[in-house]
Amino acid sequence: MNLIERIVSTRKEIETDLELVMNEEQLELFRLKHLVKKGTVQALTDDLRNVAKEDKPLVGKTLNELKKFVQDEFDSKKLAFHSEAGIENIDVTLPGRGVTRGSIHPITQTQNRIIEIFQEMGFDVAEGPEVEDDAHNFGLLNFTDDHPARDMQDTFFVDVPGRSDVLLRTHTSNVQIRVMQNMKPPIRCIMPGKVYRNEAVSARSLAEFHQVEGLYIDKGVSMADLKGTVMAFARKFYHADAKFRFRTSFFPFTEPSAEVDMSCFLCKGDGCRVCKHTGWLELGGCGMVHPNVLESCGIDPEVYSGFAFGFGIERVVMMLTGIDDARLLYENDVRILRQFPG
Ligand code: PHE
Repeated sequence: MNLIERIVSTRKEIETDLELVMNEEQLELFRLKHLVKKGTVQALTDDLRNVAKEDKPLVGKTLNELKKFVQDEFDSKKLAFHSEAGIENIDVTLPGRGVTRGSIHPITQTQNRIIEIFQEMGFDVAEGPEVEDDAHNFGLLNFTDDHPARDMQDTFFVDVPGRSDVLLRTHTSNVQIRVMQNMKPPIRCIMPGKVYRNEAVSARSLAEFHQVEGLYIDKGVSMADLKGTVMAFARKFYHADAKFRFRTSFFPFTEPSAEVDMSCFLCKGDGCRVCKHTGWLELGGCGMVHPNVLESCGIDPEVYSGFAFGFGIERVVMMLTGIDDARLLYENDVRILRQFPG
């Protein structure tokens, strides 16, 4: 038998042996028979030097194919036995790995609940730009040119070449204007969103925070509607038997204007930590939309009247959760966020 014939018959033998390899021990016997120095493949290689020179290329090539075949078959069987062994080694009694779940931020949760309640009362949601011009943030809202709220102290101005009236909105009242300019009464909207004020950041005040504003314009809307709406919301959101106090106040865009207080939802008015022992909590500002504002938006104040109200969401979250430092709401520390799943 010449070398080529021996290579072919060795390959047949190897193929038969492979079919019988069922586990790692048998694979080791296979390796000892064919793949070691004294094995069948090496014996063929040793005999290659006796082959006539002109036959060497062909015989060498055939032999190399055989070598590759044995090695590949051996490797793949070894791998297969290993991964099977891996499965056997899994301890199914071990506790599983926990999956950490994200949650909706407490500010968004609160905002969503507020929106839900007003939607039940028939209010739509309107949104507007956070980068605004002076007219929508101040001018059309009846702020006189020398009103202190226009001061650089409170407002972040945006550098825009050739313009000095671009700013980050200081309240969501800019959306009031945009809604009144674009819709005809009856208008019933709430306007949630982010606002910016150039203030030193502290436990009680932030330079960016959230507000929700409400606007209702129709024929014959009165202060009684304003009171009824604010009270209905607060009774649903905080506590059903809340008492209210409307204190006179001032906003350029409402007349008359008021601040609303509600009896503390925790102590019911007796005085506690949440209400700083006063029995009352400040809800926000409100008032009847100033005729100048209606007029500047193309709504006839002789025919229509309306009310507006607005309050900060961070303060609401802090009252409800007991978080006493507003900055904690922006640090995204999971130890805080985890306490408010939802
Ligand atoms: N825009 C006012 C503020 O930011 C709040 C407000 C809204 C007051 C609507 C009255 C009516 O302080």
